[in-house]
Amino acid sequence: MTPISTENKRKIDVEKIRKDFPALHTSVEGRPLVYLDNAATSQKPLSVIEATREYYINQNANVHRGVHYLSRIATTLFEETREKAHRFLNSRSPNEIIFTKGCTEAINLVAYSYGRAFLKPGDEILLTNMEHHSNIVPWQLVAEATGAKIRVIPINDCGELLLDEFEKMLSERTKIVGCVYISNVLGTINPIKEITKKAHEVGAVVLVDGAQSTPHLRVDVQDLDVDFYTVSGHKMYAPTGVGVLYGKLDLLEKMIPYQGGGDMIRTVSFEKTTYKEPPHKFEAGTPNIAGVVAMGSAIDYIENLGMDAIQAYENELSIYAHERIAEVPGIRVIGTAKEKAGLVSFVMDCAHAHDIGTILDSEGIAVRAGHHCCMPLMERFGISATARASLAFYNTKEEIDILIKGLYKVREIFK
Ligand SMILES: Cc1ncc(COP(=O)(O)O)c(C=O)c1O
Repeated sequence: MTPISTENKRKIDVEKIRKDFPALHTSVEGRPLVYLDNAATSQKPLSVIEATREYYINQNANVHRGVHYLSRIATTLFEETREKAHRFLNSRSPNEIIFTKGCTEAINLVAYSYGRAFLKPGDEILLTNMEHHSNIVPWQLVAEATGAKIRVIPINDCGELLLDEFEKMLSERTKIVGCVYISNVLGTINPIKEITKKAHEVGAVVLVDGAQSTPHLRVDVQDLDVDFYTVSGHKMYAPTGVGVLYGKLDLLEKMIPYQGGGDMIRTVSFEKTTYKEPPHKFEAGTPNIAGVVAMGSAIDYIENLGMDAIQAYENELSIYAHERIAEVPGIRVIGTAKEKAGLVSFVMDCAHAHDIGTILDSEGIAVRAGHHCCMPLMERFGISATARASLAFYNTKEEIDILIKGLYKVREIFK
């Protein structure tokens, strides 16, 4: 029998956790807020809010530049988050952790710094049909600039990648495979390890968009063996405007800088500039220092709860949400993959997604309605929009019951 780790025995105490998140206690026109829009952005615990406040009150200075007291403190805090992110993602070295504004900037960085340096006409970039626009548009810009071609890995009606088709598409022309770990529309958890192994067999590098996975799954970039992995701070209980790009050091060393400016240089003359080693080569200008420091607190918060406990609790909630939503007549769930995270996208026969969102809002329930920045995916399913309820560890079964009541109200109004 496999011994159960202490981590596995930990349980989420949801009532206690909810006290840490002030925004969850908002009332919407007299009703308690039911926040089910976590895939768009998550709420922030007090420790993260306090870390931001504490930074501006007692620690504010620019990093890496000053020799004075506050600058040393700010630099230490900033670099401590790099260490935390390194441990959290299990990278080989903190030098593989680059701070960015979020996933969008991280993907643009790779597309620009790796793509422009290494792609040539005829090369192929494989992207899945379920990518967010953030993992499509930067590659289109690079393809236009280099003459490389984008090819799309198809999915089945459940929202799972067709791995046989993927394998057939792989060739020596394949240079980059870009894949979302968890789809922000379908909730599909993609088999990243398998995809990476296959891509490496033809010499391609793999970029994984981890916007939706990092808050919900234990991520080990060494075990996955991905070449690049992107993190969005604001989806994992940290402030907006901050995130991480993980990249294998040997690749980062070969890449061209993404932006030029202060702090990423070793020497500058009007004739020639030399650059620092990664990660600083990719961190031009003054970063979002308070955001980075607070992201360190968000990592602490998640680690204190325990990723296994988070996963187990969210899985239980997700099963409940799917069971209950299936009871509502006239609903079609978009995304029914076997491996699925706590997220339900759906359409109703009686109402448009925006109407669903509006009626639910009148009941105090926050869901997202629209194309979710995945227009090609909407087209694949022959729809223009979905309503999406996305879960976090602070949600409860009672909140799911309120959502279901809200959906019956939508039916009542539009039938
Ligand atoms: C799958 C996915 N990728 C990328 C992004 C963009 O992330 P960020 O807001 O950090 O730029 C999002 C945000 O919605 C997302 O869901």
